[in-house]
Amino acid sequence: MASQAAIDTSGLTKAPTAVEALKNWYSNNPQTEEEDANPRDVSRAVLYSKDLWRAPFAEMRANAPINKVEDSFYGPYWNITSHKVIQHVEALPELFSSDISNGGITIAEPPEEREFDMPMFIAMDRPKHTGQRRTVAPAFTPAKMKDMEAEIRARTGEVLDSLPWDEEFDWVDKVSIELTTGMLAILFDFPWDDRRLLTFWSDWAGDVELTRARELEEKRREILFEMGGYFMQLWNQRVNAEPTPDLISMMIHSEAMNDMDFHEFMGNLVLLIVGGNDTTRNSMSAVAYGLTQFPEQRAKLQQNPDLIPNAVQEIIRWQTPLSHMRRTATEDTDLFGHEIKKGDKLILWYISANRDEEVFEDADQIIVDRPNARRNLSFGYGIHRCVGARLAELQLRVLLEEMAARRMQVDVTGPVERVHACFVHGYREMPVKISKY
Ligand code: HEM
Repeated sequence: MASQAAIDTSGLTKAPTAVEALKNWYSNNPQTEEEDANPRDVSRAVLYSKDLWRAPFAEMRANAPINKVEDSFYGPYWNITSHKVIQHVEALPELFSSDISNGGITIAEPPEEREFDMPMFIAMDRPKHTGQRRTVAPAFTPAKMKDMEAEIRARTGEVLDSLPWDEEFDWVDKVSIELTTGMLAILFDFPWDDRRLLTFWSDWAGDVELTRARELEEKRREILFEMGGYFMQLWNQRVNAEPTPDLISMMIHSEAMNDMDFHEFMGNLVLLIVGGNDTTRNSMSAVAYGLTQFPEQRAKLQQNPDLIPNAVQEIIRWQTPLSHMRRTATEDTDLFGHEIKKGDKLILWYISANRDEEVFEDADQIIVDRPNARRNLSFGYGIHRCVGARLAELQLRVLLEEMAARRMQVDVTGPVERVHACFVHGYREMPVKISKY
């Protein structure tokens, strides 16, 4: 890492985390509408926090892989639940738009007030998307991943060596969050001691459930404003300095940056933080949770560490850290016999595609040597396919390799707390014990 000048954090508020704020909001606004809803309305967060999502998706894949929900908290939307149809939709980005002006990439509508918008290329169509993706893609080439591997391995080892053996602790906090924030701090050359701010900001920036709680909108803006101030300081430090290999400096000095203003730079930085955060965190939590569920598969992996790269794909498939992405039709069209109207919202349920029996046999099982685990759609498909996929895969592979090097086995020891949301699919808390095998 390059040497870092201190950043002034004196202006930052002591706000609660987004999770605490939402929990507090829910306790004052109990959600009752979810109990007697349309079973095909799979936007209900309770299906994910109580782990009840498999049956409604299996029913839809069997009987109606494309179907329309007329009434939901998020308005009318189409459920797209099969692997084949999701790939088809993502292969037609002109017809099925990601652009924020058409509705963006999640089931929640973007706020009407757009003056605080941070433009992000995940929510842009071509040609703008192409140019902006180009500013960050060079940070994720195989060669760049090789350069980062030693540092990621060293940090991963430090975290694993700090864990207590034979004593219960929270895997999400001590491992998943710690390693993910460390990985992002390395990528951005972000001041190490402030790295947990990345988690704090990302949770406030990316939690779709916050759209339920209108009164938290203002808090959210205030926090994002503070984040902007922090990154402004980093920008100022790096803009006139010699280029360094970190992503912020790479973006500033990239040629495509000439077409980007500070707003867009900020938007794309936030995209990278949010995009890399919950997703990688929840895949690492799935390492502990999923392998505890399938002990014979875990034993297979322990006996044959060469299976680790495939197991990484399989765990990412099985978890599906983002349940969905959204597209919006730009014209009236026919989709396998269904009449889609211009402006219709299509929800691409990756969580269902990854359980599609036509592609994955015994899809609810983790099978560490599953031959086609790579066909998972957890990273999406087509022009928006996750730009950070290689980094996430690297981080997970290194985690499993370093666990194997220590002969470390993780067992989940009690009930887990899951994220209450239909977008991020993961865990808030996970009690575990580690032991030697
Ligand atoms: C896009 C998932 C890790 C940055 C996406 C998309 C998905 C996804 C589903 C949208 C694809 C689409 O619309 O077709 C994941 C998962 C991850 C992960 C499951 C971990 C297991 C990361 C990391 C980073 C990152 C580590 C960066 C540090 C991005 C960006 C985009 C994106 C910038 C936008 C790409 C574009 O629009 O061209 N990711 N992601 N992601 N992801 Fe990831």
